[in-house]
This record gives sequence, structure tokens and C-alpha cells, in this order.
Amino acid sequence: MIKTIHVNTSKPYDVHIGRGLIDRVTDFIPKKYGKYFIITDDNVSSFYLGKIKAAIMSCPESIIFPHGEASKTLSTVSSFYEKLSEAKIGRNDCIIALGGGVTGDMAGFAAATYLRGIDFIQIPTSLLAQVDSSVGGKTGVDLPTGKNLVGAFHQPKAVIVDIDTLDTLPSDYFKDGLGEVLKYGMIRSPEILTLLHEHDTDSIKTVIEEIVYLCIDIKRQIVENDEFEKGERKLLNFGHTFGHAIEKLENFEGISHGLAVVAGMKKISELLSSDRSVIDTINEISERYGLDRAVNFSNAQLLEAAMTDKKRSGDSIDLVICEKPGESTVVNISLDRLRNLCE
Ligand code: GLY
Repeated sequence: MIKTIHVNTSKPYDVHIGRGLIDRVTDFIPKKYGKYFIITDDNVSSFYLGKIKAAIMSCPESIIFPHGEASKTLSTVSSFYEKLSEAKIGRNDCIIALGGGVTGDMAGFAAATYLRGIDFIQIPTSLLAQVDSSVGGKTGVDLPTGKNLVGAFHQPKAVIVDIDTLDTLPSDYFKDGLGEVLKYGMIRSPEILTLLHEHDTDSIKTVIEEIVYLCIDIKRQIVENDEFEKGERKLLNFGHTFGHAIEKLENFEGISHGLAVVAGMKKISELLSSDRSVIDTINEISERYGLDRAVNFSNAQLLEAAMTDKKRSGDSIDLVICEKPGESTVVNISLDRLRNLCE
């Protein structure tokens, strides 16, 4: 059964969730565009690019870039602009982002900036992109100094979530997405935590459609309340300040984003959560699903790497604290206090 979540942001759109959606992709792609231009990577293209090109009658052009976070740069987006321009993509045309979080973030950023903004559609094929990055309109690229430091808010015109794509996802990529699923559970959803507790690495796939739906619906509520991240949306950054710091210290090529977020959630909870069940829950679920990854950086190194984080302003930084599993809050703490806690 296909479920649709309507996201009522400044520019509203639908998220379609179900199995086999790529096989009938034209049912979900808005028809109003002249041409379509597909952006994808060299992992995903071999599975789905041919299918989607064949389905769209106007023979869309496409660009394939090397997969991985190390590609998420202005220079890759610059190569998109050149190809978009050569293909004479105009304001009545549409970009399709086909792939994981890196693809969606970069294709979305190209769409936000090319010709001062054109429309785009997300077809997320990784668990991480399905539960988090394809919804909510955050787009952007990394700089050597930090993750996602250049970007724009630009909502997609539709999101097409085909759960079948998870069947071919390598297990490391699946774990990457489970890191973000755990984040949703910790910040807002005892229901997601129960599902994670009740299952294991093998059986979780039997409820993954329900989990994707629950995560997207939480994201819908949060971005409808706070599209431009002035308050509540910051909750979605639980674990991300130290997580991004770890990714940066590993040159965006070592640890995956989801596992870095798990390590970041542990670190911030050890420093700031007063309820022991928070760290116990993160530990138990991360162990159960193999989401633990050794992080060999000192607190001082992590703190230093986190100083370019977008959540920092002046002498303080916004951090998310999980008060108890399923409940969280944003606190603004001084850098002096954070330094003391890290000593
Ligand atoms: N990935 C966090 C957000 O979209 O706000």
C-alpha cells in the first residue's frame, strides 16, 4: 500500500512511501515540466537510472558523479551547472535527485542556485536519505572546514520513497540510516525505540516501511513548525555537533554520517544527560545493530573541530540534550562550560 504524507511548508509537497514506486515513477512525478535532468552517483546509476530514463518520455539528460561524501563539494556542483547549462535546462524544467543523502543535498543545492532556483524532485534510495535528508529542504555541500557549511533551504516538489531500494542497499549503508532512525527515536519517539528494541539486524527489515513512515512523519511535524531552523528543528541535530566533528577529523572519508551521529549522541549524552537510561538506550541499540565505531579523538580535538559548527554563535553553542529516551530539548551553553565539561 502506498502512503502519502503532505508536508505543509512554505511550498507544500507530497512524500509518497511504498514498494515498487520506481517501476511506476511517472505516476508520482509532476507532469508540468518541459525537461527533466537526473543527478545520480556511480553506485546508484547502474540500478535505477536506465529505468527512470526509460519511463520519462522526454529522454532526460543525466550526470553521474563518483559516490561518497568526498564528492560533496562546490566543484562537483559546478560540474552540474555546466551540464545543466549545456543541456539548456531552464526555469520550466526540473532536476531529479536519484540516490542517497550526498546526491540529494547536492542536486537540491544545484536546483536552489542554478538560474536563481529551479524545481527538483527527490528519489532517495538509501535509508538515511529516506528517513531524513530527502525531506525538509536542506541542501548544500561541505567545505574543508566543516560539513554542510554552504547551502540553502529549497523544498523539493515531490519525494518518491521506494522501500524496495533498501533491498539492494549494502549493509553498511543500511546501518548508516539506522543511526538516524535511532536519533528520531531518542528525540521524539518511544514507538520507534520499541520497534528497535523488539527487532534485530535480520528482522528489522520486516518493519522498515513502518519505521520510514514514522520518521518522515516526525520530520513533517518538525519542519512544518520550524522550516528555517529557528527553534524546534534544531532537535534534528541531536548528536550532530560532535558527529560532524568526527567526520571532519576523518576528512569526510572515514566514518559514515549515521555512525558518526551515533558516536556524537553518545558523547553529548555522556557530557550532558542526567538520566542514565539515555546512554543505556543508545548503547543497547547501537550494540544490537552494530552501530558502534571506535572514535580515537580526544575531547579537546572534538571540541576544536566543532568550533566551525553552524550551531555556534559567538561564545555559545546550541546543543540538543536527550532528557529521557523519546524526549529532547535544545539548550544554549557557553563554550567555557562545554570546555570544562570536556576536560
Ligand atoms: N537533517 C536535519 C534537518 O533536516 O533539519
